Amino acid sequence: MDMNEQILKIVMEFTDEGIHVIDSNGVTLIYNKAMEELEGMKGSEVVGKKILDVFPSLTENTSTLCKVLKTKQPIIEQYQTYINKTGNKITSVNTTIPILNNEKIMGAVEISKNFTKVKELYDNAISMNNHLKNCIRKDGDFTFDSMIGCSPSFIKCVDIAKAAAKSNSTVLIYGDTGTGKEVFSRAIHNESNRANKPFIPINCAALPEGLLEGILFGTTKGGFTGAIDRPGLFEQADGGTLLLDEINSMSILLQAKLLRVLQEGVIRRVGGIKDIPVDVRIIATTNEEPYTAIKNGTMRKDLYYRLSVININIPPLRERKEDIPEFIKTFIKTYNDEFSKDVWDISNEVLDAFLSYNWPGNVREMKNYIEGSMNMVDGHILKAEHFTPQVQETLFKKNLSSGVFDLGYDFKTSIDEYINNIEKKIIDDALRSSDGNITKAANTLKIKRQTLQYKIKKYEIK
Ligand SMILES: Nc1ncnc2c1ncn2[C@@H]1O[C@H](COP(=O)(O)OP(=O)(O)OP(=O)(O)O)[C@@H](O)[C@H]1O
Ligand SMILES: [Mg+2]
Repeated sequence: MDMNEQILKIVMEFTDEGIHVIDSNGVTLIYNKAMEELEGMKGSEVVGKKILDVFPSLTENTSTLCKVLKTKQPIIEQYQTYINKTGNKITSVNTTIPILNNEKIMGAVEISKNFTKVKELYDNAISMNNHLKNCIRKDGDFTFDSMIGCSPSFIKCVDIAKAAAKSNSTVLIYGDTGTGKEVFSRAIHNESNRANKPFIPINCAALPEGLLEGILFGTTKGGFTGAIDRPGLFEQADGGTLLLDEINSMSILLQAKLLRVLQEGVIRRVGGIKDIPVDVRIIATTNEEPYTAIKNGTMRKDLYYRLSVININIPPLRERKEDIPEFIKTFIKTYNDEFSKDVWDISNEVLDAFLSYNWPGNVREMKNYIEGSMNMVDGHILKAEHFTPQVQETLFKKNLSSGVFDLGYDFKTSIDEYINNIEKKIIDDALRSSDGNITKAANTLKIKRQTLQYKIKKYEIK
């Protein structure tokens, strides 16, 4: 075998694209492994036979290979969906090229790319995008007036957000899940001079990098196989606000491209060559503390500086428990209206549980619990019995041993760090109840005095 033949053989065997070559009589010369997988046929069933004998569903007119033999014209990137021999629905993109020798047709080559997965993802992304747009209209009226919270830390956030609404600067919002990052974003948009232009949220965590890039910046026909001319969200949000949710989940490479767009104010569609100016206000959110995200390599430092022109850190609900009664009141009112109920208040038992629970799911979790219980209540007072058994167990569970610590693991911190925190808290409580007497505390904890001293140092307990 000479070198060229060897190269060809290797390429045929290892490429991801299906390759099918026929001669001028329509007899198959080459049918590679990727093509076998795509069409669910064996090479031995196809090679040396006439294509129309092997694929009875095809005719001279529907077979792209036969067509090219006849017309001598290439067919570029033809998009096909069919059920293959093994019963799988396949979407492929085919390019078929004639082999010519001095105008005489010698055969034809078909190169077939399996587009099934990409098409599914693309369809999902588009329907998700439409779904997101429908959401806009529903909550489009969120303003600072509809925001609940009177705790100083929350009011501080609102004040920063109000200032942000007066400018076009990018905003980075950091907060745990369910703390109201989207609520803040919408309020900023709705009270800005962009209010009558689009507000488009996109979750950067939900899409693979390649698709997200196309969705954000748009695509150009031929940019990648099967791509069509489509404006991205940057173009669609022109004049308005783009909410980039969970920016810390965006790939580092795409973050670099985003940075370029923010710096230059122009986007380029994937596969395009034209710079398109865009006027979009960016609000980005992260549920990972920004410096930690930079340290962990999930957020580019330069992008962080570019995004955090205005910074809003929404504290978790457990750090602003003063807000809880107001949330309860508002959510009861919401569901009174929605379910035609006449609830006036919650029982003291429920209020106490709400105030001592640590709310890992923050405001969203609380809203869901109240919605669930409001379905069950008949009288005027919302009581423990109106919550589902699971919620009751979560909310009213008796705390461990002496009730020193609520095991509300947030599934975010590492387990080591979490357990260290528990240990620290227990030692802290033991020291407090022994008035700082280390020997006494060590006895309570049933550990050696030296061990306790070591731990006090380790955790920097004062
Ligand atoms: N201050 C608030 N006032 C009124 N409703 C709020 C407030 N904060 C949060 N909510 C409600 O709590 C729910 C969660 O809020 P939102 O979707 O903004 O959270 P998020 O931080 O974006 O969460 P995630 O990180 O999971 O995306 C929503 O139903 C929202 O209306
Ligand atoms: Mg959100």
